[in-house]
Amino acid sequence: MNVIDPSIIHHLMRGVPEGEGVTHAVKRYHEVAALYENPRDDDPVVYEVYVHDVGPKIKGNLLWGLTVMKPIDSNGECNMTRGHFHEDRDCTEYYFCLRGEGLLLLMDEQGETWAERMFEGSLHHIDGHVAHRCVNTSADEELWVGACWPTVSGHDYGAVEQREFGYRVKRTGNEIIFEKR
Ligand SMILES: [Fe+2]
Repeated sequence: MNVIDPSIIHHLMRGVPEGEGVTHAVKRYHEVAALYENPRDDDPVVYEVYVHDVGPKIKGNLLWGLTVMKPIDSNGECNMTRGHFHEDRDCTEYYFCLRGEGLLLLMDEQGETWAERMFEGSLHHIDGHVAHRCVNTSADEELWVGACWPTVSGHDYGAVEQREFGYRVKRTGNEIIFEKR
């Protein structure tokens, strides 16, 4: 029997996915500035995304990802991802928190918004009919969020742009505040 090394390695608690088929993208502030009430003037890195994508984009195939969110804010508003529904609403997704502290903002198609706490070890099963956005609520720690989702799920960002999540998440000192839109 031939025994070979795996094509990718992901030391979950202390490393990023590495190996064949792993892409790495860096998101800078100007790409997400429109999400914030009072944008910053500078352009720091907001998050980095690693995705293991070996295709094909067919039903049943999966993607594996990691998002590393920086502990930055926009004049008090916590760093967040764009947030999306799945184009194919039948596709679910797992998120799991590997490091840091944050919130998983969730919103149904009627705009009802709630959140799940994210902390090392938290696991989140997300329905495709529910929009999802990660928020790093820490002032000084990165938030590491892993994900596994179907290649065919797609990202429907437009629906969130038309009807945003019901709350903004802000931090004053150590206090996290939810501001209704
Ligand atoms: Fe998703």
